Amino acid sequence: MALVAPSLLSADFSRLAEDIVRVEEAGADWLHLDIMDGHFVPNLTFGPPVVSAIRKVTKLPLDVHLMVNNPAALIEVFAEAGADWLTVHVETDPHLHRLLNRIRELGVKPAVALNPSSSLAMLDEILPELEMVLIMSVNPGFGGQKFIPSALTKISRLKKQLVQLGRPVLIQVDGGVTPANSAQLTKAGADVLVAGSAIFCSNDMKSTIACLKAG
Ligand code: DX5
Ligand code: ZN
Repeated sequence: MALVAPSLLSADFSRLAEDIVRVEEAGADWLHLDIMDGHFVPNLTFGPPVVSAIRKVTKLPLDVHLMVNNPAALIEVFAEAGADWLTVHVETDPHLHRLLNRIRELGVKPAVALNPSSSLAMLDEILPELEMVLIMSVNPGFGGQKFIPSALTKISRLKKQLVQLGRPVLIQVDGGVTPANSAQLTKAGADVLVAGSAIFCSNDMKSTIACLKAG
């Protein structure tokens, strides 16, 4: 069974607390929070005050996906705001080893994300420092984009590497995930499925989440 992390990017921001209750009741395992700075990606979302507000209305793990140019400057504030996971993009910091250790020191689980054009080889030296790898299956910045199929082989290759490494590192996939491709994704090795539009635009959130979980 995969874990399902609904992305609040597709929630109704004017009724965020209500939408959080709805996904919780529908079976969400984590909440995925997309932080965009208008520089690393061409879109802006929300920051630490909104994450703190979300922390007050749910007990679900908060999975914070930082799509920002300078993650090192922001990890403390997001840790204080209540993040359980902090995912930084491999493309954004030349000192990932230091950054991941700082995230861990803050009591938060560290993860690294790869854009569709970034090679798995970029992770070679830091896999032992990670709790999770996020494979982006769209170019980050917006919800509702089409799944890029090459993510599937990337997940399979990563899964093989992790089996060799012999350390439990989760594989997360984000972008264009739907009940139509979730089985292929879990078969390839994905452990955590992020889905925004597929869940929030669904008429039956509970069955959509159940389909995603079942793979
Ligand atoms: C995209 C974000 C995703 C987004 C996914 O940059 O990282 O988390 O919300 O949305 P869907 O599931 O609609 O592709
Ligand atoms: Zn995301």
